[in-house]
Amino acid sequence: LGTLAACGPGDEGFGDAQPLRADDGGVSLDDVPENESTLVNFGGEQPFVLLVRGTGEDITAYSGYCTHNGCALSQKQDELDCPCHGSKFDSSNGEVLVGPATRQLPEVSVVVEEGLVRRAG
Ligand code: FES
Repeated sequence: LGTLAACGPGDEGFGDAQPLRADDGGVSLDDVPENESTLVNFGGEQPFVLLVRGTGEDITAYSGYCTHNGCALSQKQDELDCPCHGSKFDSSNGEVLVGPATRQLPEVSVVVEEGLVRRAG
């Protein structure tokens, strides 16, 4: 057997963009571009969170899980796509673009401390 490429849990089903991985529970603000949306793997349970950054420390965070049946979403350009039944969400605000999901992605709490974005609570 050859050496397998590193492929951790949660990597399945991700298309174009791999989620940014948090170390020590946080991601550097420098790794979260301004005026863009970035899917982050914070580790632990329900690790995927979409960070929507404006400028500076203006960040709104949304669940990275489909509101239809809870599958982990993958980021493709301006959308989050669900691999389970095809729902699509706007990655700028979590709104449903294509069903069967009907509910917007819920917001989750994050804090910015000393240049790190962390999950709150
Ligand atoms: Fe996402 Fe069904 S779980 S569309």
